[in-house]
Amino acid sequence: MKRDTIIYQCQACGYVSPKWLGRCPDCGQWNTLVEERKDITHSWWRSNSQRSSRTLNPPQPITQIEYLKDRRIPTGIKEFDRVLGGGIVKGSLILIGGDPGIGKSTLLLQAMDKLTKHGRILYVSGEESPQQVKMRAERLNISSPDLTVQAETCLENVLETAGQLRPIAIVIDSIQTMYSEDIPSAPGSVGQVRECSQKLMSFAKSSGSSVFIIGHVTKDGSIAGPRVLEHIVDTVIYFEGEKGHSFRILRAIKNRFGSSNEIGVFEMTDEGLREIENPSELFLSERPEGATGTVVTASIEGSRPILLEFQALVSPATFGVPRRTSIGVDYNRVNLLIAVLEKKAGIHLIGMDVFVNVVGGLKVAEPAADLAIVTALSSSFKDQAIDPHTIVFGEIGLSGEIRAVSQAELRLREAQKIAFKKAIIPKANAERLRGDISIEIIGVKDINEAMEYLF
Ligand code: TYD
Ligand code: MG
Repeated sequence: MKRDTIIYQCQACGYVSPKWLGRCPDCGQWNTLVEERKDITHSWWRSNSQRSSRTLNPPQPITQIEYLKDRRIPTGIKEFDRVLGGGIVKGSLILIGGDPGIGKSTLLLQAMDKLTKHGRILYVSGEESPQQVKMRAERLNISSPDLTVQAETCLENVLETAGQLRPIAIVIDSIQTMYSEDIPSAPGSVGQVRECSQKLMSFAKSSGSSVFIIGHVTKDGSIAGPRVLEHIVDTVIYFEGEKGHSFRILRAIKNRFGSSNEIGVFEMTDEGLREIENPSELFLSERPEGATGTVVTASIEGSRPILLEFQALVSPATFGVPRRTSIGVDYNRVNLLIAVLEKKAGIHLIGMDVFVNVVGGLKVAEPAADLAIVTALSSSFKDQAIDPHTIVFGEIGLSGEIRAVSQAELRLREAQKIAFKKAIIPKANAERLRGDISIEIIGVKDINEAMEYLF
């Protein structure tokens, strides 16, 4: 590869330099220059007349555009398929990100084994030798001869193999170990990761094979630098879980072929990942009944409701500034709700240490959980337990009003299934309920009304 086909481009402002610089002379940021190939990424450098080949895609009326339906192949792992939007789309590029050791290789090995029903699979391991992959496969009871394992880190070799093998799916484990001959930098660098992904994308689109890319998340939470991959790929899925817990949550962050925000729940066992079809029961399985500072809420994750236990602990601060800690919910949201409690419900948490936790390691972002946070806090503060057969949900506004949330029926039906008897929900939702809901519904319009019913 000739040096003069490499350029360095600032990832922050787009400045281009023929040699690497530590600091961008244009925008002044440090460490933002990344090497790229001039001919591909910068074809706009050349004027139109100089362009050697170009094809024009003519515009067509939207009514006449045709596409092939039914191109999805289900993996057979229901929780995985749900997150993918019903199965793998042919020719798609899917990124699976997550912390090292969370179970990405295990998940894909299990899914690929099931996929061999539909065709050959190429599993490229840049991290482990074929023997190591085989050892893992034995543990997972995998024995399909159509699952081909290749220990390789050169992308050009992988693509050559794939061209001959014609697999229906390729797994790249992991993108950080791959390198392309066209870029002189080390595997794992932003330039390499991007170049390899782009090549895999064009291979996927031209061959129809689906490509799974495994990516380790770096310390700052992004995959290989400044989220370089997320806009290239069709689907971004994160595999999450708490160290020390066996639950694993698969979450779609972006999906060009389905809805994002869907989650799949798994448990890591001795024999690999096991699907959890009813997460509500699992998340509530160890609930302490009659304890103070705990309450159950119904949260919507993607298209399905999940019952979750919220816990809070309020105790006098022993020294200095009181501590505020939240796990599984946004810290700022908790602070806001504490302020609302102070001002509107007369619950004084000044001088108190406050801890809030969502049991099971799930992260909840929707404001419908506000009422659960407030209830758990008040229960711990007052030292009074909440009736264990009651669930609560509702968004809380700054004046203490309880606002309607989406899909109230869906939440209530899930609670009904797990034998809850009473629900404290926003008044606006209670007035609009449809369908047969047999649990007792209490509609509340503000935080004080909710407190009256709860304590
Ligand atoms: P792995 O899939 O190697 O993680 P990643 O590819 O994301 O780095 O999973 C590693 C962990 O999973 C490891 O700590 C061992 C555990 N594990 C099990 O508990 N059971 C199993 O059957 C397997 C294969 C792994
Ligand atoms: Mg791995």
